[in-house]
Order: sequence, then structure tokens, then C-alpha cells
Amino acid sequence: MSRALVATAASLLVLLAAQPALAGINIQNKCSFPLMVWASSGSNPKSTYYLKPGAQQYLDFGPANLWPAGRIWASRSNNSDAARTTLVEFNIGGDIGNGRRQDFYDISLVRAYNHPVCVSPINPPSVGGQWCGSPSCTITDLPNFCKSPNYLTGNDPACINLDGPGTVVTNGTRPFKARCPKAFSYAADYTTSVFSCQWGTNYNVAFCY
Ligand SMILES: *[C@@H]1O[C@H](CO)[C@@H](O)[C@H](O)[C@H]1NC(C)=O
Ligand SMILES: *[C@@H]1O[C@H](CO)[C@@H](O)[C@H](O)[C@H]1NC(C)=O
Repeated sequence: MSRALVATAASLLVLLAAQPALAGINIQNKCSFPLMVWASSGSNPKSTYYLKPGAQQYLDFGPANLWPAGRIWASRSNNSDAARTTLVEFNIGGDIGNGRRQDFYDISLVRAYNHPVCVSPINPPSVGGQWCGSPSCTITDLPNFCKSPNYLTGNDPACINLDGPGTVVTNGTRPFKARCPKAFSYAADYTTSVFSCQWGTNYNVAFCY
């Protein structure tokens, strides 16, 4: 090999090493009914997907692999109001200082619950510690679960977490935490609800897992 070729090959390797593995999020509808699914990042317009039972949709973040303030939510109705659904939140490639990035994700019941969901990391580049976990949440018997001050609404229907946007535990948020200990039950419910994996991890988000 010529010296120039060796130099080119070396710089290519450096370039490859600096790039995170291509990654994205696979959304699956495992429910027995069709779902409308929405995904948005920050103030970017939301994408809408119609997923039949068993169907899936892959969100590809390309070589940059950044998805800040990402949200995924689903409903049986065409009402795209995220305040009426279980919410899956991602910060793919979150800046953790010193030029380092990490993924953060959670399930949020801060506004409401409507369908079961499970988030699973797939092939993390290396084991990312105890928090590279798989949060999930299922609440069965919604009419019986959804007691005052919370209330059922919509055709889907959803249980509105009336005190969820607040920063303290209340009688309204407590039942959400009891059923789904790994999901946000109120806005400041960080300690047991935030998960994190190495940047470059792929994720599966399954509704009715
Ligand atoms: C929602 O919209 C889709 C596509 O526009 C339509 O096929 C579906 O029947 C609608 N669902 C409901 C529940 O209205
Ligand atoms: C919360 O629930 C407890 C037990 O049922 C009750 O004694 C208390 O008054 C409730 N608090 C509020 C603010 O409603």
C-alpha cells in the first residue's frame, strides 16, 4: 500500500469510529385493533402512522442519530391530543457534557393513560448499567381504576391524570404509580422513571406488548 493510501485508510477508520452506530426506534402495534400513532421531536411537525394489528413502523434517525424531546403516542381514535394518551418520551443523543452523548427515555402517565406500552432497548453497544432497562405499563379495567379526581374521557377512552402535571404526589397520582412503578406518575417523578442507555442503542416500542 502507498503511504497516501495508508493515510486515507487511517483517516477513514477515525471517521468511522467517531460516528455512532445507525440507530432508531421500531414502533409495533401488538394490540388487537388498529392504532393511529404519532411521533414528534421538539417543535418539528408530528408524523402520523396508521398501524394495523401486528404492523410496525421504524423511525430512522440517520447518521446524526439525534432525536431531542422525542415523543410517541397512540390512540384508537383519530384525536392526536397527546394529553389523552400514554406517552413514550425519548432524548436520543442527549448532551451530557464534554462532547459526550447518551440516550434517555421514559413512559409518562403525567397527562393520561390509554394503552399498555413497553420500551425495550435492542443491542445496546455495551451494557449501559442498571438503567438501560425496559419500562412497561399496563392498567387493566380502566373504568374501575379511574377514580376521582381522575376521570375517563374520549372514545378511546383515556384516564386523565388530573394532578399529574403537578410536582407532588397526590391521591390522584398515587394509583398510577401503584400500577406502573417504572412510569412517571407526576411531573417530578424522576427517580424511578428515567431510563438511560448508551448512544447508538436501538429501541422497540410496543403498544399492547
Ligand atoms: C382514522 O383515520 C383513518 C385514515 O384517515 C381512517 O382509515 C380510520 O377509519 C379513522 N379511524 C377512526 C376511528 O375514525
Ligand atoms: C387522600 O386520601 C386519604 C385516604 O383515603 C384521605 O384521608 C385524604 O383526605 C385524601 N386527601 C385529599 C387531599 O383528598
